[in-house]
Amino acid sequence: MSNILDAILAKTKEYLETMPKTVRKKKGQFFTSLETAVFMAGLFDLDRIPKEVAILDPGAGSGILSAAIAERLNSEKACSAIHLTCYETDTEVLPLLRENLKLIASLSDIPFQFEIVEDDYILSQEDDFNDSLFASCKQQRFDFIISNPPYLRVMRNDPHALAMPAVVHGAPNLYFLFAAMSLYNLRDNCEMVYIIPRSWTSGAYFEAFRRYLLSDGKLKQIHLFISRDSVFKDEQVLQETMIIKVKKTKEQPDSIVVSSSNSNNDFKSISMHTVPYETVVSGTSLYVFLPTTDDEINVLKSIGRYKKTLPQEGLRMRTGIVVDFRQWDDLREEPGEHIVPLFYAQHIKKGRVNHEPSGKGFDWITDEKPGLIQKNKNYVFCKRFTAKEEKRRLQCGIYLHSDFPQYEHIGTQNKINYVDWIDSDRDLELPIVYGIYALLNSTLLDQYYRILNGSTQVNSTEINSIPVPPVSLIEKIGLRLIETGDLSTAYCDKVLSEVAYG
Ligand SMILES: C[S@@+](CC[C@H](N)C(=O)[O-])C[C@H]1O[C@@H](n2cnc3c(N)ncnc32)[C@H](O)[C@@H]1O
Repeated sequence: MSNILDAILAKTKEYLETMPKTVRKKKGQFFTSLETAVFMAGLFDLDRIPKEVAILDPGAGSGILSAAIAERLNSEKACSAIHLTCYETDTEVLPLLRENLKLIASLSDIPFQFEIVEDDYILSQEDDFNDSLFASCKQQRFDFIISNPPYLRVMRNDPHALAMPAVVHGAPNLYFLFAAMSLYNLRDNCEMVYIIPRSWTSGAYFEAFRRYLLSDGKLKQIHLFISRDSVFKDEQVLQETMIIKVKKTKEQPDSIVVSSSNSNNDFKSISMHTVPYETVVSGTSLYVFLPTTDDEINVLKSIGRYKKTLPQEGLRMRTGIVVDFRQWDDLREEPGEHIVPLFYAQHIKKGRVNHEPSGKGFDWITDEKPGLIQKNKNYVFCKRFTAKEEKRRLQCGIYLHSDFPQYEHIGTQNKINYVDWIDSDRDLELPIVYGIYALLNSTLLDQYYRILNGSTQVNSTEINSIPVPPVSLIEKIGLRLIETGDLSTAYCDKVLSEVAYG
């Protein structure tokens, strides 16, 4: 059977040569490499499968994934008949797909039937999907679903964006609509294997999708690629991707296998960790954490020891208020009457906040518009943007109102975040300020944030979702910093491990 895969690959290469990348990009068309397809097909659990299996490959392209699973079923003599359904909308790739599926049928030892649905995978089923959310009749047709779906952002008013409101928040990407539809199409207790970007694992836009995927289905395995661009080796796709195996069940497994490999061609050197389910899928927003080393698993377990978040402790990280380039009229180069300091990320240095010239020219703002200023109180500031090469994602500094006693208000640029009480005008007490600083400045929180969010941006919603020790312990931590005046990360780590994470 591996002749099939080779033949399919050769034909796909011919197609790629005639079809410019720019054209395929518009269709969300990137082909899976042979090695990745074989690895994906290898993930299915073949115990207790029916004699006749129904397979779905939505967005089938040249059919490489179908070929890989057909090959595995043949080589393991796992069933007595295969019914394959492929969805594909691109008329230019359809002849190649048809030719390839015929080839599989002719070489398969197991009787092999196939159907190509030349229709939109989402729009052709949207009504059934939406009805199923209210009625118990679920369309469960497939024993295996394997897919590399189109990676295509669609506009808010695109028919796809409107098709599955239960899983969409904002403008969606076709890839997660495909995944949600596939879970719907899957029979109970059967599995789907998808290769998709990592973006769905955190962030508010994907929360509705995560809720659907992780309530009707459960993650069984996650495979990560450590280096970029390796999955589609002929394709140079920049997105970071992952492979997930999801079982359609409401029963939560004890653990998830998190595997990773260094490069696309080398699925032989895979590192594997078995991680408790609640360590990977965690928090009220159902973030999916992607640890690849024992150290990272320990970080998740340490943080997971507390259950409440900053907001549940009455505190919240918010984003700075002033969008400087929209507020030129209100910015000032010099101090003066009714003018207050404006703080930028550049002012966060060595754990404190100063107001030395930022280099921006406009370090002051008028206090005339209440919506642009905030009370001069104690805060913990945190940079929103860091460079990839910088050692830490979380870079924060203590802001004390007593350093700027002459001002009732200050301004904060929106490239910093700050922590304050949620509902209270009262000042953050010093031990709390120092305690929050110690948390945000620790190695533990920084590592945790990196596992949660692969990007360099520090998103306040995500910080607000991190479990933290109770305020009473935060105060204790803060007192230790105040006693010594040591704001170093090493000292924060020491105090945290002694007071809260020992
Ligand atoms: C990322 S490619 C993957 C192709 C193939 N499965 C593979 O792994 O090499 C996604 C495929 O989905 C097709 N596609 C895009 N939108 C679709 C839709 N709405 N319904 C069905 N297929 C679609 C594209 O034409 C493309 O061939």
